[in-house]
Amino acid sequence: MHKKVAAIINKYDADKGQLISILQDIQAEFHYLRKKDLTQVSDTMGVPLSQVYSVATFFKAFTLKPRGKHLVNVCLGTACHVRGASKVLEQIERSLKVSRGETTSDLKFTLETVNCMGCCALGPVVKIDDEYFGEMNAGKVDSLLAQY
Ligand code: FES
Repeated sequence: MHKKVAAIINKYDADKGQLISILQDIQAEFHYLRKKDLTQVSDTMGVPLSQVYSVATFFKAFTLKPRGKHLVNVCLGTACHVRGASKVLEQIERSLKVSRGETTSDLKFTLETVNCMGCCALGPVVKIDDEYFGEMNAGKVDSLLAQY
């Protein structure tokens, strides 16, 4: 029984109609939905585990795969690509020792790519959590990651 999960369930008075909000809060806390937490939700709220799983797997916003504390997004859209985004991505993959779509073993970073962040003039662009870093190059990668 995890105290934080219990507190989230209590916040919603264990209301079955709030299952999605409860799962959203749990994911916000742990960055993904852990099996043990889904079981706790099921046991505490009296919702069948199969129903909890069907909600957790139906919505794209939920993930059951471990996610890092920080989400690193590398833009590979055309404008960023022509300015060397793939070299930035390769350097991040080397530095974090993961490929895109993967999470570091210490659960610190998850690496993903996107096809445009809407700030093409700043490319190549890397976004970490909610912060954008423009005019990136491979040489800037390590000092950027070190800030996290
Ligand atoms: S192509 Fe990278 S921000 Fe638009």
